[in-house]
Amino acid sequence: MASPPRRVSAPLLYSLASLPLFHALPIYPSSILSLFTRSLSSSSSMAPQEAETTVAQKKNYGSSSIDEAPPRKNRVTVVGSGNWGSVAAKLIASNTIRLPSFHDEVRMWVFEETLPSGEKLTDAINTKNENVKYLPGIKLGRNVVADPDLVNAVTGANMLVFVTPHQFMEGICKRLVGKINGDVEAISLIKGMEVKMEGPCMISTLITEQLGINCCVLMGANIANEIAVEKFSEATVGYRENKEMAEKWVQLFSTSYFIVTPVQDVEGVELCGTLKNVVAIAAGFVDGLDMGNNTKAAIMRIGLREMKAFSKMLFSSVKDSTFFESCGVADLITTCLGGRNRKVAEAFAKNGGKRSFDELEAEMLQGQKLQGVSTAKEVYEVLSHRGWLQFFPLFATVHEICIGTLPPSAIVEHSERTPK
Ligand SMILES: NC(=O)c1ccc[n+]([C@@H]2O[C@H](COP(=O)([O-])OP(=O)(O)OC[C@H]3O[C@@H](n4cnc5c(N)ncnc54)[C@H](O)[C@@H]3O)[C@@H](O)[C@H]2O)c1
Repeated sequence: MASPPRRVSAPLLYSLASLPLFHALPIYPSSILSLFTRSLSSSSSMAPQEAETTVAQKKNYGSSSIDEAPPRKNRVTVVGSGNWGSVAAKLIASNTIRLPSFHDEVRMWVFEETLPSGEKLTDAINTKNENVKYLPGIKLGRNVVADPDLVNAVTGANMLVFVTPHQFMEGICKRLVGKINGDVEAISLIKGMEVKMEGPCMISTLITEQLGINCCVLMGANIANEIAVEKFSEATVGYRENKEMAEKWVQLFSTSYFIVTPVQDVEGVELCGTLKNVVAIAAGFVDGLDMGNNTKAAIMRIGLREMKAFSKMLFSSVKDSTFFESCGVADLITTCLGGRNRKVAEAFAKNGGKRSFDELEAEMLQGQKLQGVSTAKEVYEVLSHRGWLQFFPLFATVHEICIGTLPPSAIVEHSERTPK
């Protein structure tokens, strides 16, 4: 006899209670994901059968009336093809193929590399439909086309998704200046910032300033390899004024296992995604020193407090509520438990700070890039420049440990520098 379904836990029920369909349905574990799916109103999470119908309908697009010109379809290019870039292309491609308002094909710009076999990475991606270096074992979708020519990849696209390690973005923008129309829309999935003479510059601002285009952001508790195998997760789109555009991005990314929520707070969303990598480095030190879960939770709490204070001191428009979205506390938790910054910082502490982050990154990540160490340096520069070091003992200590001025154990001594 089949056993009765177990009830879901109280905290999850509590969060689900805010969803529109919640009150009408009995909630069992197996129905949780379908509940989320049904709660998506933008038609971006249809059942497979419905999706097939839509593709079929697309083929007949416009046949009902010869006088009506079909509206212009959106064409998407993903700029970047690392671990998250490849997963983003997969998510997007699964939607463009079935949504009538998008061209099926998704271009993906690849920073060309030669694989140990002698084959070019781009050729390998296009032949195997798989990014064999950065996302092995996952099919991207036949409508993803890898292109090593940056300008060619973006030509004709009206929706650009930027997803490269942040240190490469300034160079990429320089190569694209004058090549993109002002009506193109962008979204940045990049975590990090540039520090310039005049102050910190978020990557979305860099894109807007250099290319003259509007730029939203998408951040969240999104460890790429988990989304690649379609495990349920959430993300946040930050937008400025154009809510309609934010909804278009939500539609492009949302699937039954990837739930995207728009919030009107670009800087808040982007700073959450950027700063949590610094806290993850601190969490890695704690793990490397075997300090236990209570210490790690304390570091995460202090880190979240500094994330919020730093964001609000830089941009008064940043909203408190943003820190409770997926881009805030959820991303902080997942990064401090499972991300690559935590992992490499753990190894750094285990080695007593004697092996550099550069060395460990090259050995442990096989071409993937760490963001937390460079972000800690950038944050430190802002703090020093503005005379704020005393207010951010955790952020300051992380950088000082990374450069060897302090030992890893100093991560729990920073509290002596009482924040004001
Ligand atoms: N991986 C994740 O789980 C994850 C999740 C959310 C957000 N992000 C963010 O996404 C962004 C991209 O990360 P990723 O995981 O896709 O990349 P990655 O670290 O897996 O790969 C590095 C990428 O950089 C490219 N590259 C190397 N040298 C380059 C150069 N000189 N110019 C341009 N590109 C160069 C490589 O070809 C590769 O595509 C980062 O900001 C990261 O913080 C990553």
